[in-house]
Amino acid sequence: MTARPELRGDVAVLVPAAGLGVRLGPGGPKALRLLSGEPLLVHALRRVAAAGVGCVVVAAPPGEVDAVAQLLAGIGPVTVVPGGDTRQASVAAALAAVPANFDIILVHDAARSLAPPALVVSVADAVRAGHDAVIPVLPVVDTIKEVAASGVVVGTVDRTVLRAVQTPQGFRRAVLAAAHDAATDQHTDDAGMVEKLGVPVFCVPGDELAMKITRPVDLMIAEALLARTLAP
Ligand code: CTP
Ligand code: MG
Repeated sequence: MTARPELRGDVAVLVPAAGLGVRLGPGGPKALRLLSGEPLLVHALRRVAAAGVGCVVVAAPPGEVDAVAQLLAGIGPVTVVPGGDTRQASVAAALAAVPANFDIILVHDAARSLAPPALVVSVADAVRAGHDAVIPVLPVVDTIKEVAASGVVVGTVDRTVLRAVQTPQGFRRAVLAAAHDAATDQHTDDAGMVEKLGVPVFCVPGDELAMKITRPVDLMIAEALLARTLAP
């Protein structure tokens, strides 16, 4: 896909990056952990910037706002705000900092550091084409079973109807704002909140490069992917 930057100026990208990275093990906030010598957040932001978006807001670990702003200074105009105690609170804080003229809002985890610019473009374009909420998805490869607390299998879920969900997720601004205003419990993604509003969520093809770096093994996989990937 050819990115046409002139068409992405109306897109703002929120990047929740305030998580602790507990599952990655000791070593500081995950977004600042190194992948091939550079922080995960820098990898993610460089790819977002290459999509030609008009606005980027990063929710940083509260004590690292100035350090993160300095780290990202070379990448382009990026606003950095303190994140919250949960991913949802971090997204809400970033959303509050987006200028009013941006109507298409993407939410993209810093932990999906290798998501390519073409994925950013494809999600933004699907919103522009008329979908109020858009998520990139991949088929589920494992067999999935429901298991009782006792450890006994309840049943096997039909895998063909399941999808693994990635970011960036894209929204009309009013829809994302309404979803955050209405949310009373915590969600692991923004589309989950939008579903609760009854707004249809449209799926576009995801990308294996948009894998989430969660555990130490993911960092190793990402390093291998980066070494073999020619595109940004
Ligand atoms: N995130 C955030 N604010 C939080 C928690 C998470 O901005 N209070 C961000 C993370 O920085 C990450 C994304 O949300 O980019 C997805 O979260 P996850 O992969 O769970 O990252 P962490 O919360 O950092 O990891 P863990 O759950 O292992 O601590
Ligand atoms: Mg987390």
